[in-house]
Amino acid sequence: MEQHWWQQTNIYQVYLRSFYDSNQDGIGDIQGVIQKLDYLKGLGIGVIWISPHYASPMDDNGYDVSDFYQVSPDYGTIDDFKELLDKAHSMGIKVITDLILNHTSDEHQWFVAASNPFHPEHHKYHDYYIWQPPKNDEQGQKMRPTRWMGWFGSPAWTYNEATNEYYLHIFSKKMPDLNWRNASMRQEMKEMIRYWIQLGVDGFRVDASNHLEKNWEFPDDFPGYHHFSSLPKHHEYLKELGSDIFVPMDLLTIGESGGASKEEALQYAGYGSNEFNMLIQFGHCWADVDDSNSVLMGKWAQGKLRLSSIKESFQNWYEMLENVGWNVIYWHNHDQPRIVSHYGNDSTYWFESASMLAVALYLMPGTAICYQGEEIGMTNVDYQELSMFKDVEVFTEYQNMLAKGLSHEHIMTIIRARCRDNARSPMQWSEAAYGGFSKVSPWMPSNGNYLTINVKNQLNQPTSILSLYQHLLNQRLSNENITHGKITFLDVSSQKDFSYLNTGTTEEYLVLCNFTSSKIMKSLNGLNLANYSLIYNNYFTLQNLENEQELLPYESQVWKRVISQ
Ligand code: GLC
Ligand code: CA
Repeated sequence: MEQHWWQQTNIYQVYLRSFYDSNQDGIGDIQGVIQKLDYLKGLGIGVIWISPHYASPMDDNGYDVSDFYQVSPDYGTIDDFKELLDKAHSMGIKVITDLILNHTSDEHQWFVAASNPFHPEHHKYHDYYIWQPPKNDEQGQKMRPTRWMGWFGSPAWTYNEATNEYYLHIFSKKMPDLNWRNASMRQEMKEMIRYWIQLGVDGFRVDASNHLEKNWEFPDDFPGYHHFSSLPKHHEYLKELGSDIFVPMDLLTIGESGGASKEEALQYAGYGSNEFNMLIQFGHCWADVDDSNSVLMGKWAQGKLRLSSIKESFQNWYEMLENVGWNVIYWHNHDQPRIVSHYGNDSTYWFESASMLAVALYLMPGTAICYQGEEIGMTNVDYQELSMFKDVEVFTEYQNMLAKGLSHEHIMTIIRARCRDNARSPMQWSEAAYGGFSKVSPWMPSNGNYLTINVKNQLNQPTSILSLYQHLLNQRLSNENITHGKITFLDVSSQKDFSYLNTGTTEEYLVLCNFTSSKIMKSLNGLNLANYSLIYNNYFTLQNLENEQELLPYESQVWKRVISQ
């Protein structure tokens, strides 16, 4: 089995803008992260992944980069960034940043030149982006080159009058897509990557990495996602980065791709693949989408939770990469709702479901990523007004749903349940104003439940969600039985329980989790139940292990046995 430092660590995702505001301007910042390093160390974190810190007009909270070499003044200075690297490294914590390769901001100098035919460098930069001439309709009106739709629910082309062309943007119109077929653009990207490595960055989470190649025949399909997602040639670009930079410099690299076949999984995250060490994929993220909904598309169509498909996805990834690559495990990031609201029950069973979800995930093999606030059971936002939301996607989708005839109230319910802002509200540190995130009104409203759900309330409370996270994550730092174990799900098809064995070399864990708000009986027939002892139960009661094991609403139990050699 291959052994690497990044297999025995925990990653914590910091959504910089909402983590901690050190200078009271309402925006989280780099000094804020520095001030919380002790907290992260105590949590058992070995790697911090910080969301984009680059100069940006913030159309998409920094994923729209206007200068890859500058730190956004919202977040601090390059000296703050170096200080973060130094302090984190001195505590044994590595720092990885987001690397955004698919697009830039329309305010990036490349695009400014590319879109203006009179700019002295127009000819060099025009080809850095993807342009097509307009089509004409029967009346001679200009039309988009194709009906492709972007991921935020608006058309993927925007007209640029100065050149009489459309440019492609698969996210917002302020995020033009780069042309990865252009070698000089690739060269400039590589220089930029080396700059951050020389500064001391330990690796990258590579944003939207499966979108780099496009179908340059531009077929006129709707919505056309398959013409800019996971096209085989994007692996060539990733391998070029891998073999030129990532692998020789021994970085931690994590890709992002919606899904993958076994062959693709091996390309992304197989040992020696020269692409990434791990891949963030979304197989388990939207297990409650109603595909039969004829009005709403994708994640916006909420249906019943299919627990079986969450297990199938994990099992599939473990099988695809068994002994040949490495898995990352996580519940959600800044693009999905809060896990306790999404797959748990954030009212009656808030504690039970948050702790159950922690147990279900963090006793599985792989490298874990914990998303900020998850460790205290932060919930979806409670915003009542549309203006309280900030995400560009909320506003395009709101208009789309209005156009489909949905009422304002109905749309608000859908947005509150499904939108990305749910995960982006300010971190809840204490019961002080704004959850102790800032002393002034934050860039985005705090969730009203900070009075009860906050770090201060849970620190040093042995039965809190935070203490459970500290325990589980610290275990993972040293216990190879968990991180390198072999998982066997007990009943993939069950829609009620999430139960598995994780078998290491010297210990085996039996994890039983009830995903429902009713009592269930879990059949353990066929398992040898001898020699297990209970090490955790989120109801804090003593139990025996029976062939028919009773599990209360959202109960989780962890049983351990020593494997005789
Ligand atoms: C990724 C990011 C998301 C961002 C998009 C465009 O999916 O996680 O937040 O909006 O890429 O950069
Ligand atoms: Ca600040």
